[in-house]
Amino acid sequence: MNNTTLKYFKQQLPGLAGGYTLDVPDCEIKLNQNENAWDWPAHLKQEVFERVRDLPWNRYPPFVAGDFVAKVAAHIGADPEQVLVGNGSNELLYATFVSTLEPGRKVVIPQPTFTVYKLLADLMGAEVVTAGLNDELQYDAEALEEASQDASVVVLASPNNPTGSVVDPTDLEHMVMTSGALWVVDEAYFEFHGESAIDLTRNCRNVVVLRTFSKALATAGLRFGCMVAHPEARPIFAAAKLPYNLNIFTMAAVETAIENAVTMKARVDEIKRERERVARKLREYSGVRVYPSRANFLLFETGREPREVWKAMVSRGVLVRDVSGYPRLGKALRVSIGRPEENDAFLKALEYAMTVVEA
Ligand SMILES: Cc1ncc(COP(=O)(O)O)c(C=O)c1O
Repeated sequence: MNNTTLKYFKQQLPGLAGGYTLDVPDCEIKLNQNENAWDWPAHLKQEVFERVRDLPWNRYPPFVAGDFVAKVAAHIGADPEQVLVGNGSNELLYATFVSTLEPGRKVVIPQPTFTVYKLLADLMGAEVVTAGLNDELQYDAEALEEASQDASVVVLASPNNPTGSVVDPTDLEHMVMTSGALWVVDEAYFEFHGESAIDLTRNCRNVVVLRTFSKALATAGLRFGCMVAHPEARPIFAAAKLPYNLNIFTMAAVETAIENAVTMKARVDEIKRERERVARKLREYSGVRVYPSRANFLLFETGREPREVWKAMVSRGVLVRDVSGYPRLGKALRVSIGRPEENDAFLKALEYAMTVVEA
């Protein structure tokens, strides 16, 4: 008997089938996910293996990993009672949305931005309001303030992915102080910019900051992120987080990363220098527009069909991100900043693509 039915799903779910997906052809030079192009040195990986080897693998991790949270808090400049740790910042974004969004509530998501925000908001059945980035794709405080009036949540990535734009700290403080909404500031690319909203979280109950170790700290494969909230809000968000969400391997790697953050910072400085070099070179190409970026990637337009340019570059072994399907980005591509030789290969592949794809 065939009595199967899919009616058990929440109403909005069939429309979201597939979730977050990505077309990733095999290319030698991978500049499509804003990862850190430098893997960990072998001796640091070895250090992590050794830390984990002697831990009991048959036991659960600590229920409240107090020492671990304290180390993370000290690293990011927050108080331990403000910090929640998670399996990537995506997990904490999920916990934030589960805690705050439901049908009948509004969330402001400026577009274009990180696609996961809308995906999760749709999953929660919330009403999504798109506002907050002007024609130059810079944050527009007035538009944000207006849109946030009757919203439960406002999500701002600063630096924003994929535009590279940042929110002005004075504007942010004003908006947070005068609003009843929760302001989620996603600082995934903080280290490439340097300005944080963490100080606001000490006094304001309606702001949370998300951080990740996936980018500057080169730990995307191990999945670690954290949230900083007001000490009264943090335990409420904690109710939406699964127990034992961090494994002992990730925790050992994060401790090692924190202890070696100074070494890793040299890479961040190099990436920032390379970002400026690549942007300068791109601006020399006729017809290319590059958006200013404070992150480890650049958004650019070539005056040509982006999918065709993307394909021509893939044929040369260079993978960038085709973001032309994002709202308002019909002409754009995004490139992550890699090692100098990878960036040179990107510039060469783009030059080639611009000769084979008509303007
Ligand atoms: C703005 C933004 N937030 C969060 C993430 C994901 O972070 P994590 O790897 O910690 O889940 C990304 C990844 O690209 C991102 O661009």
